[in-house]
Amino acid sequence: MNLKDLFIDFFVSKGHKQIPSAPVVPENDPSVLFNTAGMQPLIPYLMGEPHPYGTRLCDYQKCIRTNDLDNIGDSYHHTFFEMLGNWSLGDYFKEEAIEWSFEFLTKVLNIPVEKLAVTVYEGSDKIPFDQVSHDKWLSLGIDEKKIARTKDDNFWIAGETGPCGPDSEMFYFRSDDEIPEVFDPEDERWVEIWNDVFMQYYKDENGNITELPKKNVDTGMGLERTVAILEGVDDNYTSSVWKDVIEVIENISKLPYKGNEKSMRIIADHIRTSVFISADYSGIKPSNVGQGYILRRLIRRAIRHAKKLGIDIDSNWESLIAEKIIEKYSKYYKELEDNKAIVLDVLKNEKIRFNRTIEKGLKEFEKVANKDIDGITAFHLFDTYGFPIELTEELASEKGLKVDIEGFNTKFKEHQELSRTASQGQFKGGLGGHSEKETMYHTATHLLNAALKKTVSKDVHQKGSNITEERMRFDFSCDHKLTDEEKQSTEDLVNKWINEGIDVTQEEMKKEDAIKSGAECMFIEKYPDIVTVYSIGDFSKELCGGPHVKNTKELGHFKIVKEEASSAGVRRIKAILEDK
Ligand code: SER
Repeated sequence: MNLKDLFIDFFVSKGHKQIPSAPVVPENDPSVLFNTAGMQPLIPYLMGEPHPYGTRLCDYQKCIRTNDLDNIGDSYHHTFFEMLGNWSLGDYFKEEAIEWSFEFLTKVLNIPVEKLAVTVYEGSDKIPFDQVSHDKWLSLGIDEKKIARTKDDNFWIAGETGPCGPDSEMFYFRSDDEIPEVFDPEDERWVEIWNDVFMQYYKDENGNITELPKKNVDTGMGLERTVAILEGVDDNYTSSVWKDVIEVIENISKLPYKGNEKSMRIIADHIRTSVFISADYSGIKPSNVGQGYILRRLIRRAIRHAKKLGIDIDSNWESLIAEKIIEKYSKYYKELEDNKAIVLDVLKNEKIRFNRTIEKGLKEFEKVANKDIDGITAFHLFDTYGFPIELTEELASEKGLKVDIEGFNTKFKEHQELSRTASQGQFKGGLGGHSEKETMYHTATHLLNAALKKTVSKDVHQKGSNITEERMRFDFSCDHKLTDEEKQSTEDLVNKWINEGIDVTQEEMKKEDAIKSGAECMFIEKYPDIVTVYSIGDFSKELCGGPHVKNTKELGHFKIVKEEASSAGVRRIKAILEDK
């Protein structure tokens, strides 16, 4: 049986309800691009909100971590992974959590006790030593010498603020060497397989730690690693999670995995993550910002490595790999089957787009790669040939060269600046790619976003937007079809603000400061670290690359032409600006 089924069955037998995996793009958390842990979608409930499924939950959650995207290619990093977890929301606490972790590892997965070791929280000036966990492990048969006490590593928090608490991590001895008598968490032969977090605190912006209303348990087990351990393989990509995907790549390239590991791992990993992102109900498409930019980087990097393996890029190689992944996972994630056509389209279209320029771009790169790459050249590769800066960096590092990232960012910023100026009419039709009309629509999306918060619900958040010369489209979170009254009052409020002739002001600040100041942003944009925050009156403040009009009176008359469902919990408004 499969690890996901074993895990869920076990916790269901202990009174847990299985909850579905949340989408990879967090519903209402602009501080991260993707869900990075199983607990992330559960934060409101860990903070005290009652969960509709009760107080004992379990699931497998789709997670994406892109901070080490450029490390993919080794034997154990993945950008996408599944995290198994069980939760107590103010129900059981340390004793039961540890007992069940132990039972699952030793009785269901049949891991011998000698191969296990654990850590517990040593304590700090604010929080005491975790005696309860320590004693529990001991009572279950874990030797005292296999219980390490550690400090910072054993206090878990997702980011800077939020629910948190001491944790107890479980390790497996992954080696044929003799098992050392004393467990040393720094010894790499011990690999972490599971983490029980006892979430009983909340940490605020000032670092103050207070007790949460309820004591919770949050556990997380990385599936890929655990499967590799259970199957006794050192390279995750040779476990049953990946094996048949790698086989497809071997068939397409007519090359063996051995000797071509790096490129094959990158292709397998990046296509899998791209499949999950583009199948997500949030409807992400490749672009130059936020999640869309990650998707673009993943696909383009996979293409580059496919080329390295000599795969004919024009063939349907990417579909064959994606289809294998969809076939493997759709039993667990229905959206893969439902959105299969979209996924295959996204991959193919992005491939076609990049394929037009990659060849020339690579030639251009070869021409300039006799010394470190300056910012202007890196920007040229980005702007003209569609090379994400990280791709240029990777190409450069393969030749032992550096890329001037700061120079690239300056150039990028300058380009945005030019787009803005162009849109203000000084260089009409010229450099930027944002026409006057598009600029107007851009500002109108900010007004609409602010208006919906007042007329529909303060919980409305932008989920996406798309602008052409002719119209704007705006997606937002909302649990119901807008009534005629809601539509009318939204339209009226936007027009009221337009008629009031309010200045649109902009301010540069550090990304962190912008978020702290309460500026809204749909995703934390990749570029640059210094962001522009646009404000309109006291009702709209958004982190945004611009460009925008100077005053709302430039917008004319705003009209909603359509309101419809976009995806689960997301509505879409199409609107136009008319001359007054
Ligand atoms: N939040 C913890 C982790 O990510 C346990 O789920 O490891």
